[in-house]
Amino acid sequence: MPRVAQLYFRTAIIFLIVGISMGLNMVISQDHSAIGAHAHANLLGWVTMAIFGGYHALNPAKAERRIAMIQYFVYTTGVALMVPALYLMLTGNPSMEPVVAVASLITFAGVLLFAVIIFSSGTVETRPTAVAR
Ligand code: HEM
Repeated sequence: MPRVAQLYFRTAIIFLIVGISMGLNMVISQDHSAIGAHAHANLLGWVTMAIFGGYHALNPAKAERRIAMIQYFVYTTGVALMVPALYLMLTGNPSMEPVVAVASLITFAGVLLFAVIIFSSGTVETRPTAVAR
């Protein structure tokens, strides 16, 4: 598996652990105010990152390009800033709003970079490479 795909899956599982922990905390405390942070950790973190990683695993030639690693760092920085800032904002720290705004824009920049990767030409494989026995 290409390095960027491996990195994406490792980062994604961390966000799933964080996202589910927030969900369990909401259930136990019966306080659902962090619902937005929980949903974004799971969807921008676990789900979207796993899709990005899966795309790179299916397109190893594209995964080796420099833009793939740049996109990983931009997107991951955005989500890693956004989730805790959103959590703090929703649980009573309105001063975190500008951080959430900036982090959202960084995350969106990461999504646009991924669009560039998807639309760039390159060998597109539809099946994973066969494993040698
Ligand atoms: C053990 C795992 C999980 C627990 C305990 C949990 C718990 C919760 C709780 C308590 C809420 C608030 C419900 C409400 O106030 O109406 C919620 C909402 C939500 N969760 Fe989870 N969750 C889990 C996993 C996930 C996963 C894996 C995803 C996505 C991949 C996810 C996505 C969402 C979304 C999108 C909402 C918002 C739903 C809405 O606003 O209608 N959750 N979750």
